[in-house]
Amino acid sequence: MINFDFQAIKNKGRKEIDDSQNLEELDEIWRRYLGKKGEITHILSSLKDLPKEKRGEIGKETNLLKKFFEEEIEKAKRELKNRLDRESVKKSFIDITVPGKKIETGHLHPLTSIRMEVEKIFESMGFSIVEGPHIETEWYNFDALNIPKNHPARDLWDTLWLKEKQKNQKLLLRTHTSPVQIRYMEKNNPPLRIIVPGRVFRHESSNVSHDIQFHQIEGLMVDKEISVADFKGITEEFLKRFFKKKIITRLRPGYFPFVEPAFEIDFQCLICNGKGCPTCRQEGWIEICPGGMVHPNVFKAVGLNPKEWQGFAFGIGFDRLVMMRYKIEDIRLLFSGDLRFLKQF
Ligand code: PHE
Repeated sequence: MINFDFQAIKNKGRKEIDDSQNLEELDEIWRRYLGKKGEITHILSSLKDLPKEKRGEIGKETNLLKKFFEEEIEKAKRELKNRLDRESVKKSFIDITVPGKKIETGHLHPLTSIRMEVEKIFESMGFSIVEGPHIETEWYNFDALNIPKNHPARDLWDTLWLKEKQKNQKLLLRTHTSPVQIRYMEKNNPPLRIIVPGRVFRHESSNVSHDIQFHQIEGLMVDKEISVADFKGITEEFLKRFFKKKIITRLRPGYFPFVEPAFEIDFQCLICNGKGCPTCRQEGWIEICPGGMVHPNVFKAVGLNPKEWQGFAFGIGFDRLVMMRYKIEDIRLLFSGDLRFLKQF
């Protein structure tokens, strides 16, 4: 059946042309109406079968319809081409007057910048910076540090153990930086002065002052005549330079199997000058690092003669130091990667 409803054909075509998105679609519309098997072509070829009196009029209308499609498709193609041209010009056009986008530069994490500050202070006192592995053996983390298998002191370090790969080779995430004392003394002869900044791990539940990972700065000084006075002097000098203030310290007895005697160093609270305030928990003193004189068994473990050598070691709770410097209340913020926190430094 031939569709002679020319208005309907025109409306349909109009809509298709208007909706078309690209040249291919327009070509397809052209084929559907004007191509060999197109609708209008079909009407034209069937005109001869119409009764004579109708033929003229319908023929004229068909030709108008044909012209409409030819012109409209052509017009739509032109417009489309113009639009594509305009867009490609826009794309390749560089407006050099537009203000540039600011490149945001980051900055060092407070744990890094303060570590570098601490390193500089110790370097100026003749200490070298040494590092050690995060994954340790039981020997370096415990045994060589005078903490034998069944020693109750092992309870001090809630350890994260790794799966055993070799028999009798138990590996762990180091619970402190002290194993680096051993590693260093095995390879270097005294006199020596080192600090060991690094990350340590404990199997603990986290809260504002504890996390499963934190940082320590181990210190070790070994020479012929080293005494507790050197220990106190060096740590006090460090604190003075770090806080840029006169610092008062005190030594309390402490306990660690690898130092004897062992101490806890406190310094007088800088906020209340020892009167007691929330920062020092009303004590007037803030605990900064444990330490003491290197235990003879530690010297023996690395093949040094304890009668010949003396030394002190300490372990600064580094995160604490950073938190004190910036008055940070929650240790977990240091690892959060939260930009709202980090942008403040
Ligand atoms: N390694 C101890 C700890 O993790 C700290 C320490 C270091 C104590 C050096 C004495 C000497 O708590």
